[in-house]
Amino acid sequence: MSESSSKPVLVTCGLPYANGTAHIGHLRTYVPADIFARSLRKEGREVTFICGSDTHGTPIVVNAEELGITPKELVETYHRHFDETFKSLGIYFDAFGTTDDPENHNRTLDIVNKLIEKGYVYPKTIEIAYCPKCNRFLPDRYVEGACPHCGETARGDECDQGCGKHLEPGELQNPVCTICGGPAEYRQQEHFFFKLSEFSDYLMDYLSHDLGGTTNARNYALGWVKQGLTDWCITRNLEWGVKFPGHDDLVVYVWVDAPIGYIAFTEEWAARAGDSWEKYWKNDGEIVHFIGGDIAYHHCIFWPAMLKGAEYSVPTAVVASGMVKIEDKKFSKTRGYVVWVGEDYLDHGFHPDLLRYYLASYTSHTKELNFSWHVLQEKINTELVAVLGNFLYRTMLFAFKNYGEVPDGELEPEVRDEIEKAITEVKAAMSEYEFKRAVDSAMAFASFGNSYFQVNEPWRLIKEDKKACGNVLYNCLHIAKALCLIFEPVLPQTMENAWKELGQKGDLHAAQYSEALVPIKAGTKLEKPQLLFTKLEDDRIAEMEEIANQRVKAADAKKNAAKENDKEPSKSEGMGPAEEAAKSEKAKANKTEQKETLPLIEYGDFAKLDIRVGKVLLAEPIKKSDKLLRVEVDIGEEKPRQLVAGMASYYTSEELVGKYVIVLTNLKPAKLCGVESQGMMLAADDCENIVAALTPDKEVKPGSRIR
Ligand code: MSP
Ligand code: ZN
Repeated sequence: MSESSSKPVLVTCGLPYANGTAHIGHLRTYVPADIFARSLRKEGREVTFICGSDTHGTPIVVNAEELGITPKELVETYHRHFDETFKSLGIYFDAFGTTDDPENHNRTLDIVNKLIEKGYVYPKTIEIAYCPKCNRFLPDRYVEGACPHCGETARGDECDQGCGKHLEPGELQNPVCTICGGPAEYRQQEHFFFKLSEFSDYLMDYLSHDLGGTTNARNYALGWVKQGLTDWCITRNLEWGVKFPGHDDLVVYVWVDAPIGYIAFTEEWAARAGDSWEKYWKNDGEIVHFIGGDIAYHHCIFWPAMLKGAEYSVPTAVVASGMVKIEDKKFSKTRGYVVWVGEDYLDHGFHPDLLRYYLASYTSHTKELNFSWHVLQEKINTELVAVLGNFLYRTMLFAFKNYGEVPDGELEPEVRDEIEKAITEVKAAMSEYEFKRAVDSAMAFASFGNSYFQVNEPWRLIKEDKKACGNVLYNCLHIAKALCLIFEPVLPQTMENAWKELGQKGDLHAAQYSEALVPIKAGTKLEKPQLLFTKLEDDRIAEMEEIANQRVKAADAKKNAAKENDKEPSKSEGMGPAEEAAKSEKAKANKTEQKETLPLIEYGDFAKLDIRVGKVLLAEPIKKSDKLLRVEVDIGEEKPRQLVAGMASYYTSEELVGKYVIVLTNLKPAKLCGVESQGMMLAADDCENIVAALTPDKEVKPGSRIR
């Protein structure tokens, strides 16, 4: 995002599904967005920060049905939950609506009608899964079957356990009704399609030249456009949702009305604030979407095409975060690798600012973020307590005890320069969505404060030269004031406390970075300082680790019990959405596979396998699959072999390239996600969390045989 622009900025966050409680994975969208919005305000920019609950879609209907309540009741509960959770974390939206608000129904109708009017929507009779026993059509998660691309068990709208592809109605093979478990059949029905394919050229241009944000989202999206876009079925047979105009038995697909919520919530804010929503959605105000990498496709392809087609402004930037992992394990609610924001964090009395700090400073925004209690302890104790907290406390305590107010003094040029440097660095990092870099620069400035205090030895000066000592403290207190301003976006609550202790009267949240250069006023009364950050002790961390271990054990036990009874774990026993239950089914199957020993074979059977050493030349993700990589391997032949490997969750491209691997080279070629795999890379799989590529003990020539 350009640092010099002065246009108003709309900052939005991916809307949480009002279908479960908040976990730390969610926060990777909301915390950095809140930091970004606060920082822009500190630069003097006009910012509107909006979000809301995503309340439609089949999972919500399925879940409500299982709980015996209406979808409306279900989403109201979780909407309130998210609203409260965000506030307790210091995340304040200017509007937090729901996609079931009248504003969203109206805006969705307006946009869909416009698309129809402009000829971008057409009816087509397609095959829809239908359950003759339940006597109903089966949209999305109401149906399961085999993925037409990879053969894995998939649900109606997404191959969630295999190649990750978005599936259109009618694509699933061997469909089964998830309500009664009986076989489903395909019946013809008229649905409506959006001419996404007509937007290919437009999107290519938009993604290459106009869209800002993080490069991960943009590059993936460009890849998808290059592979060719197909038209998109935008209606579903459901009662819950936004009605498709003129067809009372159809609603629009949830990914149509969910992003339109961004506009509706801007309208809600504008109506309340007496401001204009059009300055963002019809004129040239900037629009910055914060999301997780998992929903980049929807935000970089569907959404801009819809907006363009309906003559609205398109996003200025899409900022996509890497996913969150728990203790180095892939995030999974069913396996117990989850940290709930309420139950596991706030309810145990941990300060929200500590978590904000962790999320902002652990790693760069587009990388995976690992949450570990142990790392939290270390970061808090060695950074927040030992550097920032230490400086603020020792400065304020010394000044309070010896002066009770800000003593007389003059801002030293060296101190002024350091402040300017810190602000410049923080602003630049924020404009590139590099939140870790911003925090690191701010922390480097706090370290400067500590060395300034140390070098000037006020504890000695106070006895020898009270005036000189006053001057040192004056500068330290001014640094403290600047730190409050610079750290406010990340640590809003603690910095507000420090600000008050410094006797500062104005609203810290409304104050701008530039105020950090206005010398602190001598004579300002100081409050007795409190410790802003306290060390996280070993026993508290051990307690949390124990809770986490128990959760994983309980999840395991549940899976095993389910296996013994040969039934799926009950979805209503707090298992969460149907998708989670389905995933645990997969894990169950894996475990069985692990235990089974296969019958003895002849050497001749083994000799049929042509297994060779290969060297990985290239590895890249495959469109819309979060599991598969396209890999090119040198196996000593003239041309490299192309393989499709299910390793994207376990290896990055960089980790694989250059590795010596073992390849089964005479396996019949097969297409996975449209990419031909000419062999198979061998790997060890514990069917839990670890997949390790096999590699020879020494570097041997590519093409060497395994025997
Ligand atoms: N409802 C959709 C978004 C619609 S936007 C028009 C959705 N909801 S969600 O509840 O699943 O996720 C809300 C936000 O949290 C999204 O930005 C999503 O990317 C993010 N995350 C949810 N789980 C996550 C992790 N485990 N890790 C990182 N971010 C993830 O998607
Ligand atoms: Zn698939």
